[in-house]
Amino acid sequence: MSNIAEHAETIAKYWDKVTVQPAGRTSKWWANKQIVRHQNRLVCGDPIDGFAAGLRRRTAKLLGGRPLKRGISVGCGGAKKELAMIRDGIVESFDLFELSDARINAGRQLFAMAGLGDHANFVNGDAFSIVRSTYDLVYWDNSLHHMMDTRAAVRWSKEILNPGGVLVVNDYVGPNRFQWSDRGMTWATHIRSILPEDFVRHAHDPSKLLRTCRRPDPDLIAKIDPSESADSDNIIGALLTEFPSGTLWWLGGYIYHLALSDIIWNFESTQESAELAMCLAVDELLSQLGENHYAAFLARV
Ligand SMILES: C[S@@+](CC[C@H](N)C(=O)[O-])C[C@H]1O[C@@H](n2cnc3c(N)ncnc32)[C@H](O)[C@@H]1O
Repeated sequence: MSNIAEHAETIAKYWDKVTVQPAGRTSKWWANKQIVRHQNRLVCGDPIDGFAAGLRRRTAKLLGGRPLKRGISVGCGGAKKELAMIRDGIVESFDLFELSDARINAGRQLFAMAGLGDHANFVNGDAFSIVRSTYDLVYWDNSLHHMMDTRAAVRWSKEILNPGGVLVVNDYVGPNRFQWSDRGMTWATHIRSILPEDFVRHAHDPSKLLRTCRRPDPDLIAKIDPSESADSDNIIGALLTEFPSGTLWWLGGYIYHLALSDIIWNFESTQESAELAMCLAVDELLSQLGENHYAAFLARV
């Protein structure tokens, strides 16, 4: 397992600073109900509300009404998703590892407000060198792609699971450092080029029209947050190798994550948007052709 110590301070500083988008001007796909429902439909068959709710429903079904006792989540952020796992009766308590103190404080507050403070043990540190016990649940939600060596992180997940334990992964599994595929980028740019003008206005500068998509500078990404998709390319291979009996759901993303980045708020309304529905249909087709940024995975050992 690669040593996180040399990067921990930079990662923590970056994530301490990350702020939530002002209400009403959502520029991130995960705040859009229609996209969340789309993902949930891909996982559980029903377009239900709630981030990762489809995967929680699948997990609950696998458990047959018998909650797991001890869970662990590394890179838990503000721990909203872990709280939802407890509330949905999937697990009783969590050890939660995170490098950002600001996020740990937010998570502690969230659990305290829910009256579940004693169900979460937050730790700021390197889980791979600290953890000595085993767990009934290992949960990764948009944090596995922040591990410097994802194969090692998946192997470790298997090692710390008790017999009968469950692995739940909901994550970015696309190219390292967001170096998009040619085909995915071509389609994302095509979608931006054909959307009506009012749909491609930049979230924070409506005079700016976003018509093309580019690959970001990988060195700049690594400098800002060394953990950002450092080894995401290897996640799927590692999951299928270490947990061959697991179930994988591809969740796409080239359109809703790349093409609609910074313009998603233009689709916000109380009604489901027909334009967004078309974008999601293209996204699903691209996913089936093998162009994916996201996936969900569930396995029992
Ligand atoms: C994209 S955020 C996801 C947070 C949370 N899981 C969520 O979905 O809201 C990734 C998080 O991983 C944390 N992180 C990165 N590397 C880590 C490591 N080695 N150990 C613990 N946390 C880490 C970051 O501080 C950040 O909060």
